[in-house]
Amino acid sequence: MTPTTIPTTPYSDQKPGTSGLRKKVPVFRQRHYVENFVQAIFDSIADKAGKTLVLGGDGRFLNREVVQIILRLAAGNGFGRVLVGRGGLLSTPAASCVIRKHKAIGGIILSASHNPGGPEGDFGIKFNAANGGPAPESLTDAIFARAKAISAFTLVEARDLDLDRLGETSLGAMAVEVIDPVADYAELMRELIDFEAVSKMFASGFRMRFDAMSAVTGPYATAILEGMLGAPQGTVVNATPKEDFGGHHPDPNPVHCHDLYDLMQGPDAPDFGAASDGDGDRNMIVAPGLFVTPSDSLALLTAHAHRAPGYASGLKGVARSMPTSRAADRVAASLGIGAYETPTGWKFFGNLLDAGLITLCGEESAGTGSNHVREKDGLWAVLLWLNILAATGERADALVRAHWARFGRDYYARHDYEEVDSDAANGLMQALREKLPGLPGTRLGDLTVSTADEFAYKDPVDGSLTERQGIRVSFAEDARVVFRLSGTGTAGATLRVYLERYENDPARLDLPVAEVLAPVVAAARSLAEIEPRTGRAEPSVVT
Ligand code: G1P
Ligand code: ZN
Repeated sequence: MTPTTIPTTPYSDQKPGTSGLRKKVPVFRQRHYVENFVQAIFDSIADKAGKTLVLGGDGRFLNREVVQIILRLAAGNGFGRVLVGRGGLLSTPAASCVIRKHKAIGGIILSASHNPGGPEGDFGIKFNAANGGPAPESLTDAIFARAKAISAFTLVEARDLDLDRLGETSLGAMAVEVIDPVADYAELMRELIDFEAVSKMFASGFRMRFDAMSAVTGPYATAILEGMLGAPQGTVVNATPKEDFGGHHPDPNPVHCHDLYDLMQGPDAPDFGAASDGDGDRNMIVAPGLFVTPSDSLALLTAHAHRAPGYASGLKGVARSMPTSRAADRVAASLGIGAYETPTGWKFFGNLLDAGLITLCGEESAGTGSNHVREKDGLWAVLLWLNILAATGERADALVRAHWARFGRDYYARHDYEEVDSDAANGLMQALREKLPGLPGTRLGDLTVSTADEFAYKDPVDGSLTERQGIRVSFAEDARVVFRLSGTGTAGATLRVYLERYENDPARLDLPVAEVLAPVVAAARSLAEIEPRTGRAEPSVVT
């Protein structure tokens, strides 16, 4: 089988966003759209001849088809071996784990994360580098530049391979190994988490529900929670990955995962509730009667991680994305470890993790992770929580309240205005930008602006500068609002407004979030002229 080179014409829109190239399925189905982008990735990887590539996705519509195309392209481009998850499946954190463990040159993950799937849904392709993490900006820029100029791709013409049988076959000179998507990941979890303690907790009647949202974490959660840790059968619900996620948004938040949320608020709530997203990197944690914000979860895990074997020697530092609340910083200060603030998107944590500056990191968007892989990891966060619950013997809600009593509470919410007209959204951001210098000292309702700027990040490891990463306005009343435009949307623009207010008065730790944040919401809306500029009086989603 000799490789064939096929001429093609470039597309101008193959620019990777916050997390790879993400578009509607019909866009990906255009002639050679996938081939062009994957060839652009391969052209941007130096020294790939004979190297190992990891391949898998979240199982959404188009996953199987695109896996076959990539296998043919990989063979045409001289890779030595591809490790592909059975059925074309690999969760994002598992792909990161496999890349690292097998010393691959990188991996391609097919996913649009928590976005809906199906023929009219979203699809995505992202490249992760040899450290297991998302391609850095220098590489995604190179891929985009290459995609805009591409004139041919090279593949080995062959029939589809059987992805459902474990074991090794070949495609031209390249070996293809179909691997169990769960095995390497489960082994890593066993090293980090006290499986014995968690098993004992389940054996003594601890009840939980894990909602896999008909997405990729189903097989992982079933194998680990029910198979290895002895949780009763049925603990994992919606455990079979579906191409369209059953028609839902596989996004683990109280809006899209309301069944679990409602169960946890009701009288029959189990001891612990958790969920994960389309590709398994996000997590939702719900205690009985209490939703735990991702920002609080990161802070709590930072405070208690030492109880798990993988973190017994303590943490080096913790990082959070800029719009994430400052709860983790308070814990870092008390532990005397470093706290870092990065732009939104997991790729910015990679350098800090690789340089050993941090052990844990997280984002307000339901992402939590550690140095065990280079992606956020939904199931890992759930297992670490279980380890902490087993080690402390506390109920999850009591643990969170004790945390607030000690560190204070960062009330937090995010308002998303989805599918807003792009020009209106850009205009809103530009107008805010122009207002910034005059804002300090301004009164907005009962709040007084103390500082206002646009976040720029200088990477402490490689010195690279990333600008325009969100407009932030802080108030003297210990409150803050951040405005930014989403980099993962596939239709129009999404305006994200992040709202928070800190309270440490013991009498003010258990108030309704909306009540505490109301003045901040009002200030944000008037400051950014949201309704006049977008025509939206209310956000599309509040999380
Ligand atoms: C969103 C989240 C961000 C996360 C990314 C990928 O990006 O806000 O924290 O890293 O998805 O899961 P955004 O759409 O805001 O650019
Ligand atoms: Zn995801």
